[in-house]
Parts: sequence; C-alpha cells; structure tokens
Amino acid sequence: MAIAGEADPAVAASAPGPRGEPDPLALRKVLGRFATGVTIVTCIDADGQRVGLTANSFNALSLEPPLVLWSLRQASPCLPAFAAARHFAVNVLAASQIELSHRFASPIADRFAHGDWHDGAGGVPVLAGAAAVFECERTLHQAAGDHILFIGRVLHAAGSAAAPLLFHAGHYHLLGDRL
Ligand SMILES: Cc1cc2nc3c(=O)[nH]c(=O)nc-3n(C[C@H](O)[C@H](O)[C@H](O)COP(=O)(O)O)c2cc1C
Repeated sequence: MAIAGEADPAVAASAPGPRGEPDPLALRKVLGRFATGVTIVTCIDADGQRVGLTANSFNALSLEPPLVLWSLRQASPCLPAFAAARHFAVNVLAASQIELSHRFASPIADRFAHGDWHDGAGGVPVLAGAAAVFECERTLHQAAGDHILFIGRVLHAAGSAAAPLLFHAGHYHLLGDRL
C-alpha cells in the first residue's frame, strides 16, 4: 500500500516509537500533507468573554443530523471555556483573513481586537467576510489522546464566494486551478 511519505523521504514517518508507531514529529509532518482549510473556532466563556483559536482539525461529520467536528489540544488555555460552552462557531477563513489566522494562533491577549465580529447563536463570535460560518450547539466533547474532540450540531450555516485560505505542509496557500 502506498503511503503519503513514500515518494519523498523528507516527509516519511521513519522514526518508530516504542510500539512501532511513528515518532510524533515525523507523523505531524506526514499529516501536514493533508491539505485543509483554516478556521477560527470561537465560543464565549462563563463571564461572557470571547474565546477563539485557529484550528484546521475541523471536518464534516454528518448531514442528517447536521454534525461537524474539530479538536482542541488538552493543554490549551481555551479548554475550560469550550468545555463549558453550549455553543461554538467555526469561522472558515477567507484568504484575505490570513492575518487573523496568525493572530488567533499566537499568545495575544485580545485576539478579537482585529476583525469584524458579531454575535451568533448563543452569543458566539461570528466573523464577517469569512468563506463560511457554522454556528453550532455542542453535542459532545470527549478526550481523545492529547486532544479533546468536539462535535457540534449545526444550527446555522452560511457560505460566501470569498476565496478560502488553505494550509498544506506548514504553509498557507491560495486555491489553485480547478482540475
Ligand atoms: C493552521 C493552524 C491550524 C491549527 N489547528 C489547531 C487545531 O485544530 N487544534 C488546536 O488545538 N490547535 C490548533 N492550532 C494551534 C493553535 O491555533 C495555537 O496553539 C493557539 O495558540 C491556540 O490558542 P491557545 O494557546 O489559547 O490554546 C493550529 C494552528 C495553526 C496555525
């Protein structure tokens, strides 16, 4: 069976761990070959403060019922807020919003000082100009390894024609030609 790293030894997960599993850093590099969009996932904490971070673990899960998922690292300071919040929003970034991706992946006190944010379902921060927004009611959060898996039921979904921001192999990209 062909694996993603075989063609390029530079991205092979070649340093096995104790159980013959790939070394985490090597695995991360190979996982990075899976191209994704980039989102900012948001909620409000118990004090009504806005909380959010850049995440590309977002994915579709189910159409009926409408479910989406994403994961948050266990050590994140955002975890208590997301674990307690009834709602979250997934803001799929437009290419023009790359600076917000940097900002929400950095230890900045007020990440929401930039961007045009308004309140969505349950008060979750929703970003104007995003490529898509999914406002969700959280249905499940469960520990899964070093991350917490969040599943949300989509209450409201809206897309736009904005060109999406893409992430691949540790770098941001623009959408290429249609094949
Ligand atoms: C493109 C990109 C995707 C990311 N995806 C995730 C993700 O899915 N889950 C996660 O926990 N962190 C992810 N991160 C890292 C967080 O954005 C980063 O650790 C940020 O500092 C988290 O905020 P916190 O320090 O308040 O937890 C990603 C970062 C980037 C640049």
